[in-house]
Amino acid sequence: MPEVFITVVGRLFSVSSSNPSDRKIVVTSALPYANGEIHLGHIVSTYLPADIFTRYCRSKGYDVVHICASDDFGTPILIRSEQEGKSPEEYVAQWNRRDLQDFTDLGVIFNLFYKTSSKENIELTQYFFRMLSENGYINQRMVLQPYCENDRKFLPDRYVIGTCPYCGAENQYSDGCEKCGRTFQPGEIKDPKCALCGAPPVQKQSEHFFFRLSQLSDQLYEWLTENKNLQDEVKNYVLRWIQDGLKDWDITRDMSWGVPIPGAPGKVFYGWFDNHLCYISTALTYFKRNGVDGKAFWNSAEIYHYIGKDIVYHHYLFLPAMRMGVDEEYKLPDYVPTRGHLMLQGNKFSKSRGWYISLRGFLDSFPADYLRYYLAAITSYSQADINFDWDDFHARINNELVANIGNFIHRTLNFLKTHHNSTVPSPEEYDEVDQAFESRLLAIRAEVESSIEANEFDRALKKIIDFSAECNRYFQKREPWKKGKGSQTCLYLSVNAVKTLAILLEPYLYFSIEPLWMQISIEEPRRWDDASKIDVKPGHKIGEPKILFRKIEDAEIQREKARLGKMGNAADAGEKKPLEAEAKRAEVTFDEFANLDLRIGQVVEAEKLKGSDKLLKLKIDLGGEKRQSISGIAEHYTPEELKGKMVAVITNLKPRKVFGEISEVMLLAALDKATDKEHLSLLKPDRDVSAGSKIS
Ligand code: MF3
Ligand code: ZN
Repeated sequence: MPEVFITVVGRLFSVSSSNPSDRKIVVTSALPYANGEIHLGHIVSTYLPADIFTRYCRSKGYDVVHICASDDFGTPILIRSEQEGKSPEEYVAQWNRRDLQDFTDLGVIFNLFYKTSSKENIELTQYFFRMLSENGYINQRMVLQPYCENDRKFLPDRYVIGTCPYCGAENQYSDGCEKCGRTFQPGEIKDPKCALCGAPPVQKQSEHFFFRLSQLSDQLYEWLTENKNLQDEVKNYVLRWIQDGLKDWDITRDMSWGVPIPGAPGKVFYGWFDNHLCYISTALTYFKRNGVDGKAFWNSAEIYHYIGKDIVYHHYLFLPAMRMGVDEEYKLPDYVPTRGHLMLQGNKFSKSRGWYISLRGFLDSFPADYLRYYLAAITSYSQADINFDWDDFHARINNELVANIGNFIHRTLNFLKTHHNSTVPSPEEYDEVDQAFESRLLAIRAEVESSIEANEFDRALKKIIDFSAECNRYFQKREPWKKGKGSQTCLYLSVNAVKTLAILLEPYLYFSIEPLWMQISIEEPRRWDDASKIDVKPGHKIGEPKILFRKIEDAEIQREKARLGKMGNAADAGEKKPLEAEAKRAEVTFDEFANLDLRIGQVVEAEKLKGSDKLLKLKIDLGGEKRQSISGIAEHYTPEELKGKMVAVITNLKPRKVFGEISEVMLLAALDKATDKEHLSLLKPDRDVSAGSKIS
């Protein structure tokens, strides 16, 4: 892409003549939904590239901020919080904390990790809505929405489950199928059911607000064609979407969890209306807390929104359109770096099938920098899918990080220690080999820099690795251990190369490089532009050399590979799947089984649950303690029949709310195989045992 190259070079040139801190940059990372753990796919496309770039910018001395937040609203989050018996606020706060911890442990650092449910974001969202209305970009009309008469509420998005109209998969959400990957329009799903109570919903009128995206088609088209920083491959299909005609966008949800729509009680904005505004509101909050005029900063900064390719539509259309619709009071993005999906050993990641690597699990086994290194090395600046392969990981860490980079750094420092009393010697007269090496050393910074400025972090890293390989070759050729002519020069240039490598690698490998500075005995500030400077002078005393990177043993990789495809590898509270989805039954370990608290209980109270034909409300005595159960057996047992019965129950399922009532224990029953749901039988003990007896 010659064009891009020219603009990059042009900008560097103009920047280098002024103060680097005049260059203002806002980096944002797509906001993680507050209902599941951060996984490697998010990291590879979004957080790691954004973090590398931010760290580079900081090292350059640019005035850069990295902004992120938890994406708190939406039906899946509300449903999940209800299932766990928590308030949505409590639930999202817990994920916000956990995500931030994960990021921190991976060395992904934000100036502020905030939340879409912040008061600042709510205010900004409502402000955008008012401005868009004033400018004629909002209209309203009545639409039919699924409504549950049992629960007396509208059922937006994931509150409806049913059968996929395309592939017939059951228990899919009404907005798309997880089996075949198709997305649906409201009303398309077959055999729709309320996700809360299972009753089929009715259709009811509701007034909805629409954002008139189509009105901005021309402006979007122009912005996309004129902005040369956007990736052509992405731009091309976004332009095609525009040509095919943009649909106006329903931004209303009839529910309470969300940003309230001003003047429309009971309605909130669709999450994609408010979440990207959180980039702005979070940046403004950060600046305000630091006494900076955030709006002025935003509007004079280069704006980078890092995303994965699954959210292109939102970032190349909704987001710019909303800013256009408020007269660009907040600047549009300059860059929307978009990267592909992560595959695992050539197949899609799948938590439910255990074809999965959890970030936590990874960090328990390997240093965070190994992940950063490997993911950075395999991820190009494109939408191409990225493949995590354990053998490739193994080879790259051992060959590149350990045997190449780590080896050069350690052998240089160790040689200085043992042969030169930890002191940098004076160079002798350079011969051709020294000269050639020196010119490589002097050139490498600018080479790496041009790749990083072009967002090509994999290429930049490759240049660093190749340079390190040259360092090793130089050292090998000079054979300083023979103490012949040129060995002092070799050490002198090598220690300067070590310093240069440290600066260039720091954005990638913060955890490993930080302690290296002690070893070289160089204090802050260490700036990017100090790389390729030969300024570690003769007489400089270094500290104690230590091995930077440990080798990965074969057995470690075998162990990881053996874990794949097994359940339990997927264990995680945040799994996002349909409520009643019947996952393929995989093996469970004995420990997993032993974790189930199965007991005999006695039904002491039983009544029909008002408003439901299917549900009974029961009190179960567990030997002193009584717990409530809401059971879907009203069509099979009468309350009278049940009173006094001994039944088998499970007591440590997460309590869930059914019909507004908490269900704490679940009765075990058999469904007759021949007639399926028509004939149901509760399990009861074969001999007399007292209430509360454990089943094992
Ligand atoms: N939470 C969304 C997702 O994971 C991404 C939100 S990015 C933002 O797909 F632009 F909306 F903020
Ligand atoms: Zn319902």
